[in-house]
Amino acid sequence: MSSKNIHKEPFDKGTISKLEIFEDYAQAWIPTFVMQSHVKEIHIFDFFAGPGFDAANIPGSPIRILRKINQHLGHILASKTKIVLHLNEYEPLKKKQRKFDLLKENCQHFLDNNPKFKYFLSINYHNESADALFFRLLPIIDKYPSLVYLDQNGVKFISQDYITRLEKLKTLDFLYFVSSSFFKRYGTTEEFRKVLEIDICELEKEEYRNIHRLVLNKIKTRLPQKTDLKLFPFSIKKNANIYGIVFGAKSYAAVDKFLSIAWKRNHLNGEANFDIDEDSIKKQNSLFDGKSMTKIEKFQIDLEKKLREKKMNTNKAVLLYTYENGHIPKHAVEVLKKLKKEGKLHYESKSPYLTYENVFRRNKIIEYKIEN
Ligand SMILES: C[S@@+](CC[C@H](N)C(=O)[O-])C[C@H]1O[C@@H](n2cnc3c(N)ncnc32)[C@H](O)[C@@H]1O
Repeated sequence: MSSKNIHKEPFDKGTISKLEIFEDYAQAWIPTFVMQSHVKEIHIFDFFAGPGFDAANIPGSPIRILRKINQHLGHILASKTKIVLHLNEYEPLKKKQRKFDLLKENCQHFLDNNPKFKYFLSINYHNESADALFFRLLPIIDKYPSLVYLDQNGVKFISQDYITRLEKLKTLDFLYFVSSSFFKRYGTTEEFRKVLEIDICELEKEEYRNIHRLVLNKIKTRLPQKTDLKLFPFSIKKNANIYGIVFGAKSYAAVDKFLSIAWKRNHLNGEANFDIDEDSIKKQNSLFDGKSMTKIEKFQIDLEKKLREKKMNTNKAVLLYTYENGHIPKHAVEVLKKLKKEGKLHYESKSPYLTYENVFRRNKIIEYKIEN
């Protein structure tokens, strides 16, 4: 299977969606660590960086990362946090590494135009296959708060070796880009089974639109039972193919950020750049049409049931349940407020305190009392 040289043509809509998620996450991630006075150094890794721009001069991941860093310049200079950017680009089998040369040129041009970067940023350029480089850089990834992008044109990086190593790291957030629909086509071949073994019946049974969800669930089954690593999918449709981002992190702060970015991009499902469950049709149908529930409605009904069965009774428990189900606090707050208004649930404060800040930063744990 040959990979397309995406940089000889303009990025398509799906690629832009992916890059925007990457940069939105960098935007949210950078200040988290820059604001912590004990964090002196943070690292960002782009293992498949490309040349910096596409054929229409639209910026790719490395330039977008630099721009996001620029938006936090004031805080970075004030806190004196050092930022190390590791950019790798490699064209296998090519003697002349044109994209790598362009990558260096384009980043240098950016730095020349932003002279303040020299006070805090260093860039380590690499021109080698990401497979080997990944293992070599693991000690650095493990030592510092790290954000890792694996924007491959394929599936290799979801194989067990990589997942096992990533699972062991502490302060790491990663975003993988995976060509998930390749599994639908080639999933039974030896090459793909080596990466991720998916049963042929499962592949055939699963609807095409769900292929990235299936891939993500398969990766989850290979994590240790008691892992703190949390994975979330974002499916991206590009023409006839379905690709997807696998987001992974151990902290709830990271999960909160990713889910909020994902739901901002798609208010219907928070996990795709298309209407993956046909929720817009479900929303239009009335009860008389045999209405089926949208993703948000289903979550809210399940949450209400759990609350009324007293399966959880604190803001922390509800928040964790919300994240685990891939939702944002707003969806749960609507349920809590409705139940309070109906006199079925009580909490003493004005708000249900259902935010990451209240639960994890301010440690404001409150109880919800359910009426019998
Ligand atoms: C999907 S593109 C990444 C695009 C990039 N993130 C951007 O925004 O432009 C994949 C890139 O990885 C490079 N590549 C292919 N095989 C590689 C390997 N084994 N190691 C590192 N880079 C590789 C390709 O040349 C290509 O530029």
